[in-house]
This record gives sequence, structure tokens and C-alpha cells, in this order.
Amino acid sequence: MELSKLFSSGKIGSVQIKNRIVRSATFSHMAEKYGYIGDRNLKLYEELAQGGTGLIITEATAVDPGGAGGPYQVCLYEDSHMLGHKKLTNLIHNIDDTKVAIQIQHTGRLGSHPKYPTIGPSPIPYKETGITPQELTTEEVKQYIDKFASAGLRAYECGYDMVQLHGAHGYFLNNFISPYTNIRTDEFGGNTHNRVKILKDIYDKIRDGVGKTFPITIKFQSQDFIPDGISEGEGIKIAKFLSDIGFDAIEPSGGTREALYFTKNSTPSKLIKKVEDENYFLPFAKKIKAFMKDTALMLVGGIRNPLVAEKILQEGEADFISLCRPLIYEPDLPNRWKSGDLTPAKCISCNSCFVTMEKGPIYCVTKQNIKKKE
Ligand SMILES: Cc1cc2nc3c(=O)[nH]c(=O)nc-3n(C[C@H](O)[C@H](O)[C@H](O)COP(=O)(O)O)c2cc1C
Repeated sequence: MELSKLFSSGKIGSVQIKNRIVRSATFSHMAEKYGYIGDRNLKLYEELAQGGTGLIITEATAVDPGGAGGPYQVCLYEDSHMLGHKKLTNLIHNIDDTKVAIQIQHTGRLGSHPKYPTIGPSPIPYKETGITPQELTTEEVKQYIDKFASAGLRAYECGYDMVQLHGAHGYFLNNFISPYTNIRTDEFGGNTHNRVKILKDIYDKIRDGVGKTFPITIKFQSQDFIPDGISEGEGIKIAKFLSDIGFDAIEPSGGTREALYFTKNSTPSKLIKKVEDENYFLPFAKKIKAFMKDTALMLVGGIRNPLVAEKILQEGEADFISLCRPLIYEPDLPNRWKSGDLTPAKCISCNSCFVTMEKGPIYCVTKQNIKKKE
């Protein structure tokens, strides 16, 4: 079987991408102090572009100092950060027509910044840290909408091909869309329409600033795997709202570290122990694909086999295939598959990359151990 679809070009909004392989956002913990992009980040993304990925989504990038997960998280909350981002987009655009998106984020309820309060839509304590977030006033929510929009506009000016909102994995925007963490009674809480309003307001503000052609995309929480959280049915409703709002692409994800207190193995990066564990958001994607209007669907989560990826695309179950851990091990995986070596990704989903990510810089421990033995 040829990988004719996987290596065919595809569009997100008006942006043409040379193949269907997306690098899903991956927190590298490689920025310079105070979130500036330096050589380590540039090298990481250069390697990915040289490896053949069509669209690189960089990494959770803080829209506000209080929303950064530490001093070495990439930031874009002020103009001084822009120089490094411009260098990055220039570098990537000069490598084989690779496209690059930025993911913008705030830690929200999962934050534990030494200088800034932890914030969220409602004062629901986070099980892992025991911290109860400060509930934002309606006016404050609007200020955070502006912070996301400003980061989106800066991203556009820096030459990114598109922006992705991080609406998953327990962070700020996920906190708003989830009935578990959002019990507000103002315009940003209550039914699905109100809980999604923050995403629509950010979308509209960015759209007003960038015009019609710059794609605005989102990675969103399709399921929290927490009782009273986003259920599959609620995730389907949210997906429909996102398509109606006009998002150019959506990447359904799910789970949080907090979900582990309720359900076994429900982190966004699940362990893949057998073939049946692969492609774990495919059942959800199948349920929403038909009603995605002009919204492209990026499928993420445990995709390891190029032949299965090809089949998913051929059958129209997704428009793009998104990979995170496999590209930490093999940044040149797309080129390997393109050259005809169709063996699945070498990544064994041990999640050792998660451990290295905590302190940074991120790397694959398994690969390093194999190299040491050779
Ligand atoms: C080390 C590491 C860092 C991650 N950082 C991010 C991130 O910054 N933003 C995000 O949306 N997801 C992040 N994720 C989740 C992945 O993008 C992806 O959704 C998940 O790992 C499943 O895909 P995979 O099986 O291809 O790894 C991260 C995952 C790992 C393992």
C-alpha cells in the first residue's frame, strides 16, 4: 500500500500544507529564561522541519506571565518576545516549504506560579496540588480574552502560518469549557453555549485583527474522563460549536493528570501497550467528522502505524494525522515513511519524555539508552 494520501498536500483554511503530517504541540522546556526563544528551540524545530513534517505546531506558549508553567516556557505576552519567534518562523519557512503554527496557552487552574495567583473560572480545588484557584470576575475574564487575542495577533505578525488555542488537558480554556471546573453563573458559565463563549470571543478578536485568511485552530478537550466533567456527548456538542464559530481546524484531545484520580491511565498521552491501544481518539473523531463544516480535523493520540494513518485519511475519518511522542524519538519519521520504510514509529510510549519535560530540556530517554548500548 502506498502512502498516497499521507503524502498528499492538504489545506487548513487558505494555507496549503505539503503533507498530512502534523507535529502536535509539545512543551519542550527549552526556552531561555523568561520565555525567550533561543538556539535550543531553534535547533529542535529545524530538525523537525528537516525530518519532513508538513505542519509543526510548536508548544504551549504563555499569553501572560502568570500563566507560564515556569521560567523556561516559551512566552509571547509582550513585544520583546517577538524577535525569537520571527527567527523561528523564518528558519522553518526556509526548509522544504514547512508550515509552522504556534499554540497559545495559560496554565489556569493547574498553575502554581510563585509570584502570581492561580486562577480559574470557579474555585474548584485541583487535586494534584490542593490549590483552589481564584475565581475571575466577569471583567477579568474579558482581560484574559484580550491576552489570548494579543498573543494571537503577535503570532500573526511574527509570521506564523496559523495559531492554535490550547483548550485541552486541564488548562485555562479547558477549565472554562468543562462543567466540572466551571460553575459560573455569568455569561461565561452555565450551558455549553456559555462555557464555549470564551473561545468564540477569543476567535472573534483574533479574526478582527488578522482578517479572513489566517487560520485560527484549537486543540480542545473532547472528554475530561472525570465525573461531571466533559463527557463524550458534551465533547460532540463542543466540537459542533467550534465548527460553527469558524475554527479552521480542530484537534480533539482529552484527559488530564487529575483524571488519574478517577480513572486509570487517562492522561492525554496514554500508554500504548498493544495495537488496540493505538489511535485512541479515532472513535470520537468518527462521531464528529460528518458535521465539521469547513473545519479540518487533526487526529492525535497514539498514532504509530503509517498504514493505519493512511487508511484513516483514505476513509475520510480525519484530514491530518498529528504526532507528538513519535517525533521526539524520530524527528525524521515522516521522511523515513516517505522513503518506503513503513515500519511503525519506534516510540514505545513509555512517557519518559514527560519526566524529562518536567525539568527540561525534553528528550527521549529510551532512545538515549539504546544509543548508549550501541
Ligand atoms: C512531553 C510532552 C509534552 C507535551 N506538551 C504538550 C503541549 O505543549 N501542548 C499540547 O497541547 N499537548 C502537549 N502534549 C500532548 C501531545 O501533544 C499529544 O496530544 C499526546 O502526547 C498524544 O499524542 P502522541 O500519542 O502522538 O504522543 C505533550 C505530550 C508530551 C508527551
